[in-house]
Amino acid sequence: MVSLDDARDVLAEAFGHSEFRRGQEAAVQAVLDGRDATVLLPTGGGKSACFQVPAVALFRAGQGLTLVVSPLIALMEDQVSALRERGIPAAALHSSMSWDEQRAVLSGADELALLYVSPERLAVKRFRSFLSRHRLARAAVDDAHCVSEWGHDFRKPYRQLAVLKHELGLPVVALTATATPEVLDDIRTSLDLDDPVHVQGSFLRPNLTLSVELHKGDKARTERAKQLLEGIGEGRAVIYAATRKRVTALAKDLKTRSRRVAHYHAGRTDGARAKAQADFESGKARVIVATTAFGMGIDQPDVRLVLHVQSPGTLEAYAQQAGRAGRDGQPARCVLLYSAGDKRTHERIRGSRPTPGQVQGWKALADYIYATDCRESRLAAHFGEQAPPCGRCDACASGDQVVDQVQAARKAVREKRTETRERRQEEDAVSLTAEQEQLVLDFVEALKKPLGVTTVAKGLRGSRAKAVTRKGVARNPHHGALKAIPERSLVREISRMLSEGKLAKRGRKYPTVWIPEKRVRPVRTTPRVRRASSDPPLVAALKRFRTREARRLRWKPYQVFTNETMGLIADGRPSSLVELESVKGMGPKRIRRFGEGILGVLAET
Ligand SMILES: Nc1ncnc2c1ncn2[C@@H]1O[C@H](COP(=O)(O)OP(=O)(O)OP(=O)(O)O)[C@@H](O)[C@H]1O
Ligand SMILES: [Mg+2]
Ligand SMILES: [Zn+2]
Repeated sequence: MVSLDDARDVLAEAFGHSEFRRGQEAAVQAVLDGRDATVLLPTGGGKSACFQVPAVALFRAGQGLTLVVSPLIALMEDQVSALRERGIPAAALHSSMSWDEQRAVLSGADELALLYVSPERLAVKRFRSFLSRHRLARAAVDDAHCVSEWGHDFRKPYRQLAVLKHELGLPVVALTATATPEVLDDIRTSLDLDDPVHVQGSFLRPNLTLSVELHKGDKARTERAKQLLEGIGEGRAVIYAATRKRVTALAKDLKTRSRRVAHYHAGRTDGARAKAQADFESGKARVIVATTAFGMGIDQPDVRLVLHVQSPGTLEAYAQQAGRAGRDGQPARCVLLYSAGDKRTHERIRGSRPTPGQVQGWKALADYIYATDCRESRLAAHFGEQAPPCGRCDACASGDQVVDQVQAARKAVREKRTETRERRQEEDAVSLTAEQEQLVLDFVEALKKPLGVTTVAKGLRGSRAKAVTRKGVARNPHHGALKAIPERSLVREISRMLSEGKLAKRGRKYPTVWIPEKRVRPVRTTPRVRRASSDPPLVAALKRFRTREARRLRWKPYQVFTNETMGLIADGRPSSLVELESVKGMGPKRIRRFGEGILGVLAET
């Protein structure tokens, strides 16, 4: 029998920690007892030790290896190399290794304390029968929220992990930082855990001060960011924005004041990203401005401020990112600067088919943002923990101000709505005079070919938008003749003229406007290079990305990804590396090279 004391020895000797943290001890005990378990600890809470420590203890007692299912190759490699540095025999098996490397790992399996594998690998029957011929002690499923459709990183192959119990007969410990009850339930059922022990650490971080500020737009938020940065002394700050564009703009602005600012997003070259991260880690840069692409596995002690200049997508994501502050236990601030436009930004990022988790996560975040009671209690409650008011957050410390700002924001939303409604009503009331109708007819008369109602309306209003000028409308002698009429009114009036027969409708699929009885002169069709604009915007953006990468690497475009893969990406709109990894054709190598770039394209299109 391996005891908790043996595990404590391992913790001290092999990992250099003098005692278990809250939650770890219970988790280790459950694993040693051979029980199934779910372990819920916040980001950075020390989940790895919960399975690594017992794995080493069991291995030393001759009980075999612990199988670890992990979602990302980069994470597996990080953990394996950290273990090896401590002299612990560990290895990973994944598809970006050569066959020789994989064979070497397989033949040395009996010498391993820990073997990391992807869920895809475990789905391979031959691999499982290979495993069943070896001595296996336990199984761990790290980042287990990937199992759940309710988790923000849902991934299909994770659904088959019940084989750990059914075929391999192993006790399974599942670990996650995502704690909604749906996710936990889903994990238990999908893995078919048998009467699992549930271990939960505390999400409370008494050194963090949470606050939310509601602002009108980006300019105000940039100014506020500058002020807040002045308060961090010699510590570090991580600034998150939702889009690359915002990251670049803000970084540029901040760099005019201090050179110790780095920026990081998926659209930058590998080299630039690595440098940004290295500068931040070495302290050469004190501030990093980044999209969510940054941060997986960052573990810097003296981050004094985690500032969001645009909101993240879900409350879970917020908790995770904010949790990167104050890991050294010293006071740190987590400030979220929200502006009403963020809602639209995230609707765009989520795309047309968001997962239930994304939808719920956003709702929870919106509740957090507009809350007037203790922020920390709210976060804790979201993670199933009851906590009294913290006394530090903005709502606790200056409740009246928070109430005021929420009321002001609510009022602004209401006013905007009323304003829109009134404008609509006015627009609906506008009708064209006889002369104005004549101008519409003159405009259409001067067209070379029939055009859509909106294009005609825009042309009459004098628009110089590309979609309009491309059709030659800017050269129409009556371009801009009805500048003063709102577009909506014009569209409505033109439709009325159509229904009254003053104008004629041409075409079925895309109805266009023409003069009744007038013959359409066949347009001279000069052979021109066909524009690629028939693609939907997302496909067009992915194609541009592919061309750019192909050029950079001197590859053929299909080597970056095939049309089929591109279609699947455009349809599925994966929102994380993990989801992207489950798209057919996106193997780990491609994920590593292009994954973040693709997510960037998705986030911005
Ligand atoms: N008992 C302990 N005493 C002191 N430090 C510890 C202890 N356990 C873990 N740590 C440290 O805590 C940090 C975070 O650990 P770990 O990476 O396991 O967190 P995690 O819960 O897996 O976080 P994430 O959700 O980001 O994956 C590491 O630097 C680790 O060395
Ligand atoms: Mg972890
Ligand atoms: Zn509070």
